[in-house]
Amino acid sequence: MRYLIGTNIKMYLGYRESLRWLADMNRDVPETDLADAALFPPMLSLVNGRDLISKRNISLGAQNVCWSHEGPYTGEISPLVLRELGIPYAELGHHERRLYFNETDRTVAKKISAALFCGLKTLVCVGEDADRRDSGAEEFARDQIQALLAGNSDAPPERLVVAYEPRWAIGVAEAAPPEHARRCCDAIRGKLVEIFGPENGREIRIIYGGSVKLEDAADMLEQKNINGLFIGRAALDTKNFAKVVEIAARQAEADQNGGGAARRPASKKPRAAKKPRL
Ligand code: 13P
Repeated sequence: MRYLIGTNIKMYLGYRESLRWLADMNRDVPETDLADAALFPPMLSLVNGRDLISKRNISLGAQNVCWSHEGPYTGEISPLVLRELGIPYAELGHHERRLYFNETDRTVAKKISAALFCGLKTLVCVGEDADRRDSGAEEFARDQIQALLAGNSDAPPERLVVAYEPRWAIGVAEAAPPEHARRCCDAIRGKLVEIFGPENGREIRIIYGGSVKLEDAADMLEQKNINGLFIGRAALDTKNFAKVVEIAARQAEADQNGGGAARRPASKKPRAAKKPRL
């Protein structure tokens, strides 16, 4: 499986800064068949930003879309217009959209359907609040996957990505422990297999997001059902982001060679052996 390293840059950059950031990403991210990069810059920079991306493994996406492709919806962004612009991804259901803009599983599910209908790929965010952190996180993730994706069980797996982003781990100092992320991503994989069937359910990429830093990448990516990362603040530094893509490509290569951890730089602590991927 090709890994996916995404970044949601939220509203951290202005228009010109976003264009500079996209150009720097295109310069720094390594072009590889083993790992893709999906960049979600501020919305208005997508139009001109698209021309700054030339590497075949880098895609752009919108941080939100409307649940309809056309009609009387003042101020909304049509997924059809994104398609027209050649923007392949829509990020849907991010915690901040739920927290500040009242999105619910029901509205997010509608957005997923609209985006898929318009031919976009969807990156769907799930994850529990702090009160579920120590008990019931897996069940919460499974229930969210059911509510968000069961209505689109015929969607091609390459058009879906699930981002597991525990809400308590977003915008803080430390990412969730890899063991916690592993348990929840395993539960998500089980639910995806239930909804999409064994073959398609195993092809959908599951990525971890929430305060990821460069030094977290290798430990997270060696977990069997973590097929990439979704990065916020740490990706403002494009060289950092590019290094994470390199680490993902190394892990993908190790997987192809029969599983196991990718070789790390000598200064890093050794890791436990990794189970083969599903
Ligand atoms: P941070 O990496 O800044 O915590 O943001 C993560 C995130 O919300 C990605 O969608």
